[in-house]
Amino acid sequence: MTPVKDDVLAALAKVASPDGTPLPATDKLSEIVVTDGKVFFSITVDAGVVKQWEPVRERAEAAIRALPGVTSVMVALTGERASGVGGNAPPRRPQMQPAAARPREPGGHAAPAPAGIPGVTSIIAVASGKGGVGKSTTAVNLALGLRDLGLKVGILDADIYGPSMPKLLAIREKPKTIGGTRLIPIVRYGMAVMSIGFLIEEETPMIWRGPMVMSALTQMLREVEWGTLDVMVVDMPPGTGDAQLTMAQQVPLKGAVIVSTPQDLALIDARRGIAMFRRVNVPVLGIVENMSYFLCPHCGGRTEIFSHGGARAEAERLGVPFLGEVPLDMEIREKSDSGRPVVATAPDGSHAKIYRDIAARVRDGLAVASRPAPKIVIEA
Ligand SMILES: Nc1ncnc2c1ncn2[C@@H]1O[C@H](COP(=O)(O)OP(=O)(O)OP(=O)(O)O)[C@@H](O)[C@H]1O
Ligand SMILES: [Mg+2]
Repeated sequence: MTPVKDDVLAALAKVASPDGTPLPATDKLSEIVVTDGKVFFSITVDAGVVKQWEPVRERAEAAIRALPGVTSVMVALTGERASGVGGNAPPRRPQMQPAAARPREPGGHAAPAPAGIPGVTSIIAVASGKGGVGKSTTAVNLALGLRDLGLKVGILDADIYGPSMPKLLAIREKPKTIGGTRLIPIVRYGMAVMSIGFLIEEETPMIWRGPMVMSALTQMLREVEWGTLDVMVVDMPPGTGDAQLTMAQQVPLKGAVIVSTPQDLALIDARRGIAMFRRVNVPVLGIVENMSYFLCPHCGGRTEIFSHGGARAEAERLGVPFLGEVPLDMEIREKSDSGRPVVATAPDGSHAKIYRDIAARVRDGLAVASRPAPKIVIEA
């Protein structure tokens, strides 16, 4: 039996909010998404009462999990500064402010950075301003390159709207949970992987409100048993919107890798991405030029379809490292789209080497980013 929304609401009617009101009668629930045994929704409450609501969230998850046919449940709890956001309320922008604008404590020190993920040494974002430039392909192969350097690596697919990891890593199974709440990531090619796509069908059109995006990301970061990782590679959704800002604010990102194709239009977006990370004080580890040139598989001739070299010049102009050029190549596309990334399945080929070289530059950049900033002493 596959549950429907009414079954979920009936189960939630038995769950009381802190003041005793049954959950569906409060104005705290978002739209409830039920697809093929998977249930997702968020509870939005005042930031000050989040603690009181956490047991409610847990009871809600347990009640839904007990329904026949439910295969996974994700109930996100979001704290907002002001109250009154309900299921029928118009979408509101989540409460966010760039790190640079975080309140300063007396004495001029910036407010504390967001807490890290226990056991995870470095978290890096793979981003671009523009969509479809090859972020996800780069993220997976970069992660594999880092793995080949002997690092313990995880991948978080932060693209809530269009998750790629189920496809790029041919992952069909669902993550298991520990104690009903913490998710265990799927392990592929020796890497821990988590994606909203493991919980929700690829084809399901999702309508995410700002707070839901934030909660889903936070849960995938903090309620997943990531274990001990040297590097977590985060595959970002395209753009410089809420999801990116959320990541930058909720996670202590060690750095960002920007992917761009060489043509001007993509570079303008890449520039916007770099500006955003700089605004929230996340070091830009460098730019990768993807689809840099085309090597003809028949004659071996090289064609610079998008006029090669633009990203290198842009990196120089902006004073950020240039990490490498990845050709536009049929093998990369075919392997990527069939869930067998080139670094894992053709490790001796030229493409794998390119990605490993990029990975080595990222690792070196991380070492620099991790070094404490030199103390500047100004003598009177
Ligand atoms: N170097 C490359 N050579 C050939 N094909 C590539 C290359 N890089 C990416 N692709 C292909 O381009 C398409 C888009 O790539 P990908 O999904 O990685 O981009 P994206 O930037 O993550 O997209 P989105 O913005 O939708 O998240 C895919 O079909 C992928 O296989
Ligand atoms: Mg992508």
